[in-house]
Amino acid sequence: MTLRLLLAYAVPYRRSLSLAALLMLLDAFAALALPWLAGRFAQELVEGAQATAKIVLIIVALLALQCLLRYASSSLLARTGADILADLRCRIYDHLQSLPLNFYHQRRQGEILALLTYEVTQLAGFISGTLLAVVPTLLTVVGATLLMVRLDMVLAAAVAMLVPVFYVMVKVLGRHLRSIGLQLQAADAMAISIADENLSMLPAIKTFTREAEESIRYATHVENVRLLSAKESVAYAAIEPAVQFVAMTSAVLLIWFASARLGSGHMTPAELVSFLLYAALLTRPVGRLATTYGQALMAQGTLQRLQGVLSEPGEPIFQATHALPAVHGNIEYRNVCFSYPGRPAVLKELNLHVRAGETIAIVGENGAGKSTFAHLLMRLQTPQSGQIFVDGHDISQVSLHSLRGQIGVVPQHVLLFNGTLRDNIAYGRPGADEHAIQAAAQMAQAHDFILGLPQGYDTLIGDEGVRLSGGQRQRVALARALLKNPPILILDEATAMFDPEGERSFVQACRDTFRERTVILITHRPASLALADRVLRLGDGTVHTV
Ligand SMILES: Nc1ncnc2c1ncn2[C@@H]1O[C@H](COP(=O)(O)OP(=O)(O)O)[C@@H](O)[C@H]1O
Ligand SMILES: [Mg+2]
Repeated sequence: MTLRLLLAYAVPYRRSLSLAALLMLLDAFAALALPWLAGRFAQELVEGAQATAKIVLIIVALLALQCLLRYASSSLLARTGADILADLRCRIYDHLQSLPLNFYHQRRQGEILALLTYEVTQLAGFISGTLLAVVPTLLTVVGATLLMVRLDMVLAAAVAMLVPVFYVMVKVLGRHLRSIGLQLQAADAMAISIADENLSMLPAIKTFTREAEESIRYATHVENVRLLSAKESVAYAAIEPAVQFVAMTSAVLLIWFASARLGSGHMTPAELVSFLLYAALLTRPVGRLATTYGQALMAQGTLQRLQGVLSEPGEPIFQATHALPAVHGNIEYRNVCFSYPGRPAVLKELNLHVRAGETIAIVGENGAGKSTFAHLLMRLQTPQSGQIFVDGHDISQVSLHSLRGQIGVVPQHVLLFNGTLRDNIAYGRPGADEHAIQAAAQMAQAHDFILGLPQGYDTLIGDEGVRLSGGQRQRVALARALLKNPPILILDEATAMFDPEGERSFVQACRDTFRERTVILITHRPASLALADRVLRLGDGTVHTV
């Protein structure tokens, strides 16, 4: 099951992966030929006391060939590994972007970040490194064993008796490695989560003087990571030598045993040399088996988590029965019921009709469900029952792009990105001309303060717009929504941080634009309420006329 998944990720790279596997196979063949040649070399030494130049040349040529093959396969693998990593990251990112907001409300962002960063790196490394090495390793093991059998049946049987010993070792050690590995992955993800969250709430940490506690909290998790990775390194450091020790000891015992075979004339010295070199050739792959097994189990864990994310259905952003045509802005909520998972109902049988071109104001207590009401119209959330229509089209039947493209929204929590004011305003309409941008800014009462900044519209506003005041951020978000010029406009407490003078100017400036579109104002501010044709109060999950 997981192996199939793994192969699916590798399929697009099958050409370079198979080429690399082929190079590694040739390398394995060369490695298998060397002990045989060494046997011949030894034979010549025994017979003539001096080896011919021919055999020396062949051996050197083979060694050179091995060098070239290794260089080619390593560099090809490194490149393919990087390709797989980049591809996996983009695929996961695109999927993450398509997931509904609810997905993120249930999880820590850091876990997702960990998946996208180092877990994927491990997986790509596993596909291009460990997984691919399986084929040539198998060839080495099978080839060396067969050649040993050919050289001396009895000795080979002695070697075969060691197989179960190795099998048990590999199983036990591999299990141990996996359990440490899984704990380490979880601990790492947790540490990333905490750092990520804390850095974004640094102002709160500072104002509530929580530095010491947060420092300790982070340090505790880092300590956990440190302990686990030390434990993992120790395990890895122990495994190869331990397995190799057993392998080498077996080799020495074999020599001892073989000396008897030599004495009784069952074997020539040259054959013994070849035989021992094959046995030595076997020790390396055998030594690696345990770590490979441990890594395979870890990759399985990552794959399961990855699959957990990838199997979450994304929002149907592009695919839908049809696109919503250009609308006038007639909105109808019909018996809409909604509750968040595991919470009491926010909206109960809500019915509301907003005519195209109307401006309505919605008031209500904190937590009454006003923002939720707006999110439902954009299908950021889906009602449990009831329907919402825009110009008579059930919005659950149209593509999200065509729906969201016709709604402009100024959210309660303004989201700006680290860029210039111009780019932030033009976010919903890339390539908008300067004139349109400034007109929107003017309407949103942002133009004047922007011109007051040294770089004007080219001013960089910092992460999430930290270099602006709260009110200025709202004005920029408002300009962004107005520039989109949508038939439906939702302002969710969009002027809450305006000064009274700014709000009055805004109301003046907006009368005309509001007249030609449907506007939903979620607000308590009297000046904004004056813009509304109707004022409704949201309470007890439904709307009441005021
Ligand atoms: N993602 C969420 N998960 C669970 N409950 C939520 C979520 N978002 C909001 N709520 C709850 O839903 C109710 C309505 O929230 P909201 O629509 O934001 O209220 P308003 O905008 O009127 O202040 C609140 O009681 C709030 O606690
Ligand atoms: Mg709200």
